[in-house]
Amino acid sequence: MPKSFDATYIKEIRKGFPRINRDFDGRKRIFIDNGAGSLVLGKAAKSEMKSRIDYSANTDAVYSESKANENVIMEGRRAVTDLLNAPETWNIYQGESASDLFFKVSYALRGILDRDSNVVSSYAEHFANVSPYIEMKKNNGISELRLARIGREDGAVDLEHLKSLVDKRTKLIAITAESNLLGNKVNIGEISKIAEENESLLMVDGVHFAPQAHSNVREMGCDFFVFSAYKMFGPRGSFLFISDRALDVIRPFHVDRDARPGTGSYIETGTRDQGIFAAITTVANYISRLSLDLKDFKANEAPRDRRTGIRKGMKRVEEYHRELSKAILEGIENEEGLGSQKNIVLYGISDSSRLGERGTTFSYNFKNLNDKKAESIYWKKFGLTVVGGSHWNLAHDFYSNPSLLRVTFLHYNSMDEVKKFLGATRWISRQ
Ligand SMILES: Cc1ncc(COP(=O)(O)O)c(C=O)c1O
Repeated sequence: MPKSFDATYIKEIRKGFPRINRDFDGRKRIFIDNGAGSLVLGKAAKSEMKSRIDYSANTDAVYSESKANENVIMEGRRAVTDLLNAPETWNIYQGESASDLFFKVSYALRGILDRDSNVVSSYAEHFANVSPYIEMKKNNGISELRLARIGREDGAVDLEHLKSLVDKRTKLIAITAESNLLGNKVNIGEISKIAEENESLLMVDGVHFAPQAHSNVREMGCDFFVFSAYKMFGPRGSFLFISDRALDVIRPFHVDRDARPGTGSYIETGTRDQGIFAAITTVANYISRLSLDLKDFKANEAPRDRRTGIRKGMKRVEEYHRELSKAILEGIENEEGLGSQKNIVLYGISDSSRLGERGTTFSYNFKNLNDKKAESIYWKKFGLTVVGGSHWNLAHDFYSNPSLLRVTFLHYNSMDEVKKFLGATRWISRQ
């Protein structure tokens, strides 16, 4: 089985995304604002809609629509269990957004976090993963929020610095698996060892990472892992993994007095939206199918074991992403790469021998043009969705740079799209 996807396979993948070439208005454009939210898989939207029409009833009744609603929710929990290689469905919870889940976890940590304890995080974080602890610090709920440095040159989280910030009073390490600004991947395995040595819990923000690589929570050794379905080809809404060890010690709210791990209303507030569960099941099945050869993928076959399919499918995605990143940095055919174009200040890893440490997100400024003007030219002249401004990441503070242009390519983006992006960037950089 080839390690990656060739151009013919990518062409087939693209057929599954109705808005791949044109927006709702019929405008031809290249979608590379995937860091803000991915395109939607057509089949996922269809299963979402079917579940809304057919299974609108609430749970816990004997009639068919109610049973079907329960089933679609349970099937969705199973799908996320497979996506994350989690042990059991009781490890999986659903929330309105990743930000919502981060706040819910921080509430559930009362009794573990107190005014003598601290939380360690980093300058690679999206605000959402640190805001709960900034709030707690304000309210004397913790003594400190400590932030590990990132590299001035490469944007990588400084693991030695992070280690030096952790002590016996560190009750939580909250860290991203991949920066949504610079695309750096973080070595979660190493951080898990630091957490274990100090008996702290480990929260991983997997929102930017999940569409880029296999989110294997067992291998990561984390206690919490969060990702958002809308960055992963589905609708709004997010999912949370909680390890058994954390389930034993947290104190989430219970809307239902009898709620226990694995039942609704344990950390989840109110009636669940069956649509998101239906959609994420279709997404998990789709990712699993990415492990197949082209003939079986085209024929809509399903791998025998979904979990194995997901692992193999995401490995292929990761490999293809590396090829995209290499082309973006080094150039493709006659187009010069982002790494060497004049008038570009590129942040994050630009050395293509380190592609294993980064995903397909690239952030930069032009020396000759401000970001909003460049964004407008990219869109109006070239039909490219490159967005400038703040991307809600602490690295903006670290670099004292409030605005960057950002692009994120995903597995449905073609090499031809990379080439067009590089050509447009070269044109803008020469104005
Ligand atoms: C890395 C990361 N974490 C958290 C979030 C917040 O996600 P949500 O909008 O689901 O709250 C985002 C959103 O862009 C993100 O990129």
